[in-house]
Amino acid sequence: MTETTEIRKGLAGVVADTSAISKVNPETNSLLYRGYPVQELAAKKTFEEVAYLLWHGELPTPAQLTEQTAAERVHRELPDNVRDAILELPTDCHPMDVCRTAVSILGAHDPQAEDSSVEAELAKSLRLWAVLPAVVALDQRRRRGQEIVHPREDLGYSANFLWMTFGEEAEPAVVQAFEASMVLYAEHSFNASTFTARVITSTLADLHSAVTGAVGALKGALHGGANEAVQATFEEIGTADKAEAWLEDALTNKKKIMGFGHRVYKNGDSRVPTMRAVLGDLAEHYGQTEVLDLYDTLENAMGAAKNIKPNLDYPAGPAYHLIGFDTNIFTPLFVASRITGWTAHIMEQRAANALIRPVCEYVGPEQREVP
Ligand code: ACO
Repeated sequence: MTETTEIRKGLAGVVADTSAISKVNPETNSLLYRGYPVQELAAKKTFEEVAYLLWHGELPTPAQLTEQTAAERVHRELPDNVRDAILELPTDCHPMDVCRTAVSILGAHDPQAEDSSVEAELAKSLRLWAVLPAVVALDQRRRRGQEIVHPREDLGYSANFLWMTFGEEAEPAVVQAFEASMVLYAEHSFNASTFTARVITSTLADLHSAVTGAVGALKGALHGGANEAVQATFEEIGTADKAEAWLEDALTNKKKIMGFGHRVYKNGDSRVPTMRAVLGDLAEHYGQTEVLDLYDTLENAMGAAKNIKPNLDYPAGPAYHLIGFDTNIFTPLFVASRITGWTAHIMEQRAANALIRPVCEYVGPEQREVP
């Protein structure tokens, strides 16, 4: 390595491009989607309105929302060939593998797959967003040995998602909680999976290729996979009185505590207070408030031991567990939300493209002769 080369491992702190989609401000602990605080969007707007905002830059008028809603509801059903392909996959593969495969197959069958006009990219984004709940719901149901439940056009996005997964209408409080999680997960600037989508788009590859890659990036435990890992941690610890000893042991063994820490936020993730409140509401609703004792005890112990704060996956994992999702489906739920942010970034990258191709400092052997 030359003395002048500065290596930014993990691209930490590197400003790779501009974006008008969301603004993360760790100093003020805020996250804005197109200028709107995410907490306010979660409280006042539906996920459908937020999807429109991310794609178009402005909240929809009633007419625009009606048009988008109609289009989304038409595309909720899984095409037969994709359903059959999912049913062929082993039930012991990870549900993120199913998600990744489904997106790839949908791309292979999409009549506009290679059309990168703005209109086509928007149409493909909407179709993927509309159909992903059916992928996730079918996957959980087939693993449980349950029959497929078809979508209902009379229900909103979240209510229909829960209907297809559980085969019964969810109570309004549960729909509201799930909806808030979808809004909070939707977009987060140049995170690893979004950046992956932008890298793939920068080569002029198609939208489905970019989303397939993004699903792969989200799967890892340092990114989206953390929400599953949080639930596994909660189950391993069991009850609040065991949390401090568990943490001490884990930190002594140099374990990463899933659901804590963030590359950008060092003083706390701006989305956590809203999602913690949602978890509180769900715990009350289901009469399972003991989960909150464990949540708070582990958070406090982690703060005391390392001064590291929770990220969104920390409250989201136990919230999804309370709703009744299987733990390995949690990260696909994140996909169903983040598809909106990913596709907004794919379109933004496409509109002002430059091939993303960094360089590295070579540290291997000097040139030598082949023996
Ligand atoms: N548990 C224990 N120690 C941690 C944790 C954690 N969760 N997070 C950070 N640290 C420690 C590191 O060990 C390191 O300590 P050291 O300097 O003594 O070696 C220091 O804090 C800095 O951590 P890095 O991993 O270098 O920070 P980075 O910015 O690279 O990592 C990351 C961010 C990957 C999210 C990290 O905090 C982590 O692994 N967290 C657990 C996984 C997780 O929850 N991911 C979800 C991210 S948010 C999302 O996708 C919605």
